[in-house]
Amino acid sequence: MSSALDRYGVVGHPVSHSLSPFIHGMFARETAQAMSYQPYDVMPADFAAHVREFFRHGGRGLNVTLPHKIAAVHVADELTGRAAQAAAVNTLALEDGHILGDNTDGAGLVRDLCENAGVVITDRRVLIVGAGGATRGILAPLLNLRPAALVIANRTPERAAALAAAFADLGSPKGVGFADLEQLPYDLIINATSASLSGDIPPIPQSAIGAQTVCYDLAYGRSASAFVQWATRAGCARAMQGLGMLVEQAAESFRLWRGVRPATTQVLAALAARA
Ligand code: ATR
Repeated sequence: MSSALDRYGVVGHPVSHSLSPFIHGMFARETAQAMSYQPYDVMPADFAAHVREFFRHGGRGLNVTLPHKIAAVHVADELTGRAAQAAAVNTLALEDGHILGDNTDGAGLVRDLCENAGVVITDRRVLIVGAGGATRGILAPLLNLRPAALVIANRTPERAAALAAAFADLGSPKGVGFADLEQLPYDLIINATSASLSGDIPPIPQSAIGAQTVCYDLAYGRSASAFVQWATRAGCARAMQGLGMLVEQAAESFRLWRGVRPATTQVLAALAARA
């Protein structure tokens, strides 16, 4: 079967809830690109075979979502520097017959924070809560903006310390347990834990939040609401969920695939209206 449309998609499990087909559909219309974009629900055991088959049959690019972001590192023939640093891949592209693995999550977060929300990171104090894969994916782009301090706080302090040590050459991040946080407010607090998925709030001390603090949850929708409500009640300046990061990481994937960066304002407005 041949098609005039270049084929793209998102691979996850589950994937039916994914907003990526809607987002990339809007990007394609806005930039007049002849492309299709499908969701693929693929079990972990079938992931590598599915990806190779997709590209062998003419597919051009894939987004990769949970639980496959680490498996995608091994399917790629080559990694971009930022994917290697993140040790996770959220975007695959066919380049000269090779499968290139990239990670646009960190760039998406920084763009949403700095461009859309006007948050300044340079010379400011940043607290990242959580020390799993999500944190690893955003550390390098945040450190590249030279914050005055970047502290990773985690329920298991050893994981925070190990992650801070792994990124020591990009700045001087610190990894601690919640009880060891300095009693000083941060300018930006990013929730990168999976606690929100079960409606839990990580034990962030009240002293970390001041009247100027911006709080940001990497998750969006219902998963982010417990943290956003908690941060608002704690008296922060602004509490945001990660819908903008989702749209911006998608725009960055789209740019890699098509060489054109779509505008994101309309997509964000459309998603906000759907919420
Ligand atoms: P991801 O790839 O989404 O980051 P992960 O690697 O499993 O997922 O990491 C989940 C993070 O959320 C970890 O930092 C975890 O803390 P631990 O390292 O101590 O396990 C954190 N987390 C999950 N549930 C939490 C909760 N209820 N309270 C605080 N932190 C939690």
